[in-house]
Amino acid sequence: MRRTLISETTQKIGETVKVCGWVHVRRDHGKIIFIDLRDRTEILQCVIVPSNKEVYEIGKKLRGEFVVEMRGEIKKRPEKTVNPNIPTGEIELEVKELKILNEAKTPPFEINRDTKEVDEEIRLKYRYLDLRSERMKKNLEMRAKVVKFIRDFYTNKGFLEVETPILTKGTPEGAREFVIPSRLHPGKFYVLPQSPQQFKQLLMVAGVEKYFQIAKCFRDEDQRGDRQPEFTQLDVEMSFFDEKEIRGIFEECLIGLVEKLFSEKKIAQIPFPVLSYEGAMEKHGTDKPDLRKDKNNPDELAFCWIMNFPLFERDKDSQLGSTHHPFTAPVDEDLGLLEKKPENVRAQAYDIVLNGVEIGGGSIRIHKKELQRKIFEILGLDEKTIQERFGHILEAFEFGAPPHGGIAPGIDRLVMLLMNEPNIREVMAFPKTGEAEDLMMGAPSEIDDKQLKEVRIKRIF
Ligand code: AMO
Repeated sequence: MRRTLISETTQKIGETVKVCGWVHVRRDHGKIIFIDLRDRTEILQCVIVPSNKEVYEIGKKLRGEFVVEMRGEIKKRPEKTVNPNIPTGEIELEVKELKILNEAKTPPFEINRDTKEVDEEIRLKYRYLDLRSERMKKNLEMRAKVVKFIRDFYTNKGFLEVETPILTKGTPEGAREFVIPSRLHPGKFYVLPQSPQQFKQLLMVAGVEKYFQIAKCFRDEDQRGDRQPEFTQLDVEMSFFDEKEIRGIFEECLIGLVEKLFSEKKIAQIPFPVLSYEGAMEKHGTDKPDLRKDKNNPDELAFCWIMNFPLFERDKDSQLGSTHHPFTAPVDEDLGLLEKKPENVRAQAYDIVLNGVEIGGGSIRIHKKELQRKIFEILGLDEKTIQERFGHILEAFEFGAPPHGGIAPGIDRLVMLLMNEPNIREVMAFPKTGEAEDLMMGAPSEIDDKQLKEVRIKRIF
């Protein structure tokens, strides 16, 4: 017999069905055993009566989270036991056959209620149990819907989805990089991408014109609520479009996304307000202003664009660094200041902020070799370093690189805000702790001497 999903059972009154899932709750009422059976779709009340001796004996053994298969008839519940709070509240399964598919130990925390209050380390160690809970299941499902919406949106607009490598070479986005030793090239290393920045620009040189990717990014930086060592971006790059058009397409995507999937939320202002970096700092004292009328209302979505960041910033040793990344184009009218007053040069860069959180950033890129080289020089890179690190992209710019620009919103941060969650771990299936550990898998972990030898690495501690 084909398995019926619990969500389909409401259409099967009077029919005999087979359902499978986990024992969500077991309740004994006098001699009758009630099982709330959970599958990936819904919860169904199942009734085991003593007159069916064989089933009843198995029923007595059932505990929370046992995996079971049941056959029986879907019946309308007696009027006074109807539960209007669940979709299957008007029906129940009268169990005729019962099979235990697997037993389960008592879970280390209750998963038939919200796990928010449970110690997070325990939740992360037993993430596969945490993900059974209603809120976490919903977060995973909504995240998948958000990603699908975005993928369909950009595909329908004529963008090509392209996968770029994970084993690559450093690309400067301001964070420390994860390195992977190469076995075939002893002493050499791959670097995990902080973002597909250079690849997407090289795809523009390749003539792709409109690219997007749901891209995994890796950054070895200190963790915070809205940061993880690996995270996901919607990565976009476009040729022959200006900054306003690039922003406009993402804005349209966000508006459609909220309308379709989060209709209970309201976007504060459409089109999204556009603030200059200077203006935002002056008026709000931050480049991530929270423009909601009621700062405690998560259903009010106040998006805004922040424009024209300074191209460079000085670190504490007074060394110039890129505010975004070194591929960002300066504002044309500031070009004359590049050498004399680099701090005053504005970038053709924009961030998108939602309720006080930066959810994405992008820019128009440099597409001319001479200007790109000049920026590297201003950043203090010598000729040898420029060639070693960026020779490939400078060379690519010699072969007809089109004007281009793009944007990369963080999917985790966007879903976190849309799901009213306090940190991005709540919307990631298997996140790492604040110390960048995976408590479930036990990563990072030691590797044995044989593996180390293969990649010619010697222990020094
Ligand atoms: P940027 O470094 O600003 O730009 O990153 C873009 C967006 O990615 C998300 N993000 C993160 N999310 C979770 N954990 C992290 N550690 C983390 N770091 C960044 C944020 C951020 O706004 N290549 C450029 C984009 C471009 O110019 O097109 C880039 O990566 O939501």
